[in-house]
Amino acid sequence: MNILLLGSGGREHAFAYQITQSPRCKQLYIAPGNAGTALVGENAPMAATDFPKIKEFCLSKQIALVVVGPEEPLVKGIVDFFAQDPALAAIPIVGPSQKGATLEGSKEFAKEFMQRHHIPTARYASFTKENLEQGLQFLQTMAPPYVLKADGLAAGKGVLILDNLEQAQAELKQMLLEEKFGAASQKVVIEEFLKGIELSCFVLTDGKSYRILPTAKDYKRIGEGDTGLNTGGMGAVSPVPFADEAFMKKIEDRIIIPTIEGIKKEQIHYRGFIFIGLIKVGNDPYVIEYNVRMGDPETEAVLPRIQTDLVDLLEAAAKGQLEGSSLSIDPRSATTVVLVSGGYPEDYQKGKVISGLQEQGESLVFHAGTSLKEGEVVTSGGRVLAITSLADNFKEALKKSYNRIEKISFEGMYYRKDIGKDLG
Ligand code: AMP
Ligand code: GLY
Repeated sequence: MNILLLGSGGREHAFAYQITQSPRCKQLYIAPGNAGTALVGENAPMAATDFPKIKEFCLSKQIALVVVGPEEPLVKGIVDFFAQDPALAAIPIVGPSQKGATLEGSKEFAKEFMQRHHIPTARYASFTKENLEQGLQFLQTMAPPYVLKADGLAAGKGVLILDNLEQAQAELKQMLLEEKFGAASQKVVIEEFLKGIELSCFVLTDGKSYRILPTAKDYKRIGEGDTGLNTGGMGAVSPVPFADEAFMKKIEDRIIIPTIEGIKKEQIHYRGFIFIGLIKVGNDPYVIEYNVRMGDPETEAVLPRIQTDLVDLLEAAAKGQLEGSSLSIDPRSATTVVLVSGGYPEDYQKGKVISGLQEQGESLVFHAGTSLKEGEVVTSGGRVLAITSLADNFKEALKKSYNRIEKISFEGMYYRKDIGKDLG
């Protein structure tokens, strides 16, 4: 079949790589893609949010499955757009409806959903500029550190964690009165700080059945030892060693099952991925966020461990036929190290020539922010490449990734050398 994949990052290159391993994939198109996705499929120059163009493309190329990588098209309602168009309604699409995507698109909606379904999460209250005074007072009743979250999508930047009350109050004012994060911070969720270690849990669902995909740990800060500014993610390890069977059972019983039941009860059309951001507090899992897509760079560590034909799985989810489908996971560990442009996540230069991509090796080199210029692969984003390796344990896998990185270079290249160090 012909498949259309929307997105352009490392996550999408990992999807493209795995989809094209399937004998069922005749032709893969990636919109808009990057220089890496062009190696395994054909890039289609259109934005992942340009619904009319996507429609035209699906019809002219006889697309039989659409896979949505990033959250933006989902939050903008691409799944509803397909369902409501008689020419598109029969094309299976992997992703939740717009209502389902609100689990990521609005932190308040997500918190209310968790409350309704008794899913463990931090205590919270939400405020707008109309009740700013109450928000300022609410902060006084909390213990530091203070967690302030812009309600809407803010490209991963909308969460502030502050140690000091005056600073937290000033930030709340800026978010609500000056729209520090644009429309996303017209509403702010203030929540209790949870102290513990984070992990990401991924679920594929058709809204009735679900399959739990491998867990992963993401490294969000730019600096070693988890210091400095937040980024999209600097590396990942899968599986997470501390997420043993007993802990996974807690996650399934307390979080995954109530989430799927909640989706069913509220009649939310949801045929796609749920990415649950968790914190392990003591021995108990708490949800810090839902995302309605796979994580990046977690996908680059998770997908290479899935041995089942990915096209079969995606199609089953999109058609509501996940029940009975099998899922086989590679028991080895996978690690991903992200190479970024100097200066990222602040200003950085683009257009730097990347060398060393041709070298053969066991590692997978996924492109994130790359493009082709006069026949050369050049940098075009903050996160440039994601290097994934598999081995019997994550330390060996990391060694392989770091060895592969030695052979790659571009001006200003930076990466964290401490991925996985906190895992023992
Ligand atoms: P989010 O965008 O919701 O993933 O939040 C960004 C980061 O802020 C998370 O990855 C956590 O490290 C941190 N965070 C969010 N909520 C909390 C919380 N309630 N307690 C502690 N840390 C949090
Ligand atoms: N790596 C975190 C995310 O994709 O949101």
